[in-house]
Amino acid sequence: MTTIENGSGTRELAGKRALVTGGSRGIGAAIVRRLLDAGAEVLTTARSATSTVPEGAAFVEADVRTRAGAEALAAAAREVLGGVDVLVHNAGEARPHEGASAIPDEEWQDALDLNYLASVRLDSLLVPGMRDRRSGAIAHVSSAAVLTPVGPFLHYTAAKAALENYSRGLALELAPSGVRVNAVAPGRVATPGGEATRERWAEVSARMGAAPAETNADDTPPLGRDGLPDDVARAVLFLVSDRASWLTGRNLVVDGGEFPMG
Ligand SMILES: NC(=O)c1ccc[n+]([C@@H]2O[C@H](COP(=O)([O-])OP(=O)(O)OC[C@H]3O[C@@H](n4cnc5c(N)ncnc54)[C@H](OP(=O)(O)O)[C@@H]3O)[C@@H](O)[C@H]2O)c1
Repeated sequence: MTTIENGSGTRELAGKRALVTGGSRGIGAAIVRRLLDAGAEVLTTARSATSTVPEGAAFVEADVRTRAGAEALAAAAREVLGGVDVLVHNAGEARPHEGASAIPDEEWQDALDLNYLASVRLDSLLVPGMRDRRSGAIAHVSSAAVLTPVGPFLHYTAAKAALENYSRGLALELAPSGVRVNAVAPGRVATPGGEATRERWAEVSARMGAAPAETNADDTPPLGRDGLPDDVARAVLFLVSDRASWLTGRNLVVDGGEFPMG
């Protein structure tokens, strides 16, 4: 039986241990709040703690871009939570450049490390425990920008496209073990990172001589507003909950109607 314990929903994740990367602000902080509200025990991480880390969550500093960072985080998750039932890969960032050929090598590598390989590395460390327990739910946060790759962001969208492809393949591999893997692709969401990216994009576009309209930087989604972090967090909560128990290998685009074919 499901017990209603507060105004925000059910305690459907009671007894579950969740790790969320990048939970110190923006979409990640909203995901942490939703998982806590649903009754999960939550550990989150960022490179530095801030006052916006949701109360009630455990926090550990880690940089997910490196193998060493992933190992430290997996060890902390085992120590603090005793294991991970729900794993949400949310840490990510898009830094625009003046077209594809202006993206330096080290930026390509950094985009791949943060937006793609961080998930691969952390999954490889935590999936064996889920497989042994024959249960678990993983969510990879991608981006609807994959649907319209443009020069200034090709390192980012290529990394997120790889993440989506990997997510589908991992879902198929793990399905017989009862572990589900899905992705969420947000459209434009009002977060500190999202706003900073769009400001930089407008500057880069101006340097490239593009009209603001050509960048989509000022477009409002058809539903009439930018997304809120909680719009994405509710989609993530759904996907990692038993309400989505027959869903795996999916990519849920949460974009206010911006990409109807997504
Ligand atoms: N906002 C949007 O419009 C939008 C659209 C599509 C997709 N997304 C995706 O949604 C996710 C969250 O974006 P957001 O807009 O909420 O970003 P945000 O406001 O910049 O928050 C990013 C979070 O990730 C952490 N983080 C960044 N780099 C990290 C690293 N190397 N190691 C550990 N933690 C790290 C940040 O903390 P520290 O900086 O202290 O490490 C912060 O907690 C990202 O994957 C992004 O690509 C966002």
